[in-house]
Amino acid sequence: MQTETIVQRFPKADDYLLEILLAVQNNNPEHYLPEKDLHYIAEYLGIPDSRVSGVVDFYTFFSTKPRGKYIIQVCDNVPCRIRHSQVVINTLEKMLGIHFHETTSDGLFTLEPTSCLGHCDESPVIRINDDVYTNLDSEKVTKIIQKYQAREEKK
Ligand code: FES
Repeated sequence: MQTETIVQRFPKADDYLLEILLAVQNNNPEHYLPEKDLHYIAEYLGIPDSRVSGVVDFYTFFSTKPRGKYIIQVCDNVPCRIRHSQVVINTLEKMLGIHFHETTSDGLFTLEPTSCLGHCDESPVIRINDDVYTNLDSEKVTKIIQKYQAREEKK
């Protein structure tokens, strides 16, 4: 769907900026917000481009660069760190051959840090697109990624 069509579903009010940005990013197959879309949104709402960019820069779930089909977000807050989220990060980096803010060469996985995912009592926690995985260790996260890889190989 065209960005313009999505944006025009919302009232022309500054209060809707966050919702519009989310809707536009979710519509993009590469899960990001191109510069031209940000400019269009600013124009539509009648606000400066800098205000839109400020919001995009503030929230870690927005990206201005193309991302993979599966966005793996690893909670980087203290409760998860205490419960060894670094082991999960190391496993993901080794399996996928990428670090935070990078995408695998096949365009499938992007690895990102994120703030609390709301499951601190079940840490460490990751989210892959809309799915949350808890109580992770190296073995569990390996199986999760293998499941996604197998799903893609079948296609
Ligand atoms: S601190 Fe990691 S889920 Fe809350």
